[in-house]
Amino acid sequence: MPAAPPDPFAEPPPRRFRALTIVAAALGGVVLVLALTIGVGYLRGANDLPGRHVATGRTGAEIYAKNCAGCHGRNGEGGSLSIKGPAFAPGGPLAGLTFEQRVEKIGRGRPLAGMPGWKFRISADDIRKVAAYTQILSGQQPDPSVEDVP
Ligand code: HEC
Repeated sequence: MPAAPPDPFAEPPPRRFRALTIVAAALGGVVLVLALTIGVGYLRGANDLPGRHVATGRTGAEIYAKNCAGCHGRNGEGGSLSIKGPAFAPGGPLAGLTFEQRVEKIGRGRPLAGMPGWKFRISADDIRKVAAYTQILSGQQPDPSVEDVP
């Protein structure tokens, strides 16, 4: 008996099947968005935890120039742009801080006031180096335990 010709009035595939396709496509979309979010976050270092940062080998002066000068002034004279970091220079609001106070305050930051918490961004070693460098900007002797300051 010859095969019957295709029936032009045949029913479309059952609805259940189409629903499955939609669910699979939606799941694929969610997975893609998640992967992109995690990937971009990873590239930008947004998932970092304190203590995970590797020392850069930069001196305190270099770390300061790269990370702090924009807001606190190249020589610690205080910021002149819209975000004004207080001055380290003698007579400035930060000039009298001890080394330990600097390490503590630089690490913690004051995020709501525009001062980033640096323990989330640079290594503990680099925080000590830059803290000692700001002592020089304040006219103090840099803490003797720190190397590669100026
Ligand atoms: C985006 C601008 C910005 C950058 C970058 C920045 N600071 Fe600040 N910093 C501020 C502002 C604004 C304040 C004042 C916050 C306040 O009102 O108490 C501040 C405050 C401080 C204080 C005093 C904090 C306290 O708790 O009293 C120290 C110390 C300091 N900064 C050191 C640094 C060092 C070192 C760097 C670089 C590693 C740095 N800052 C980078 C804006 C900045």
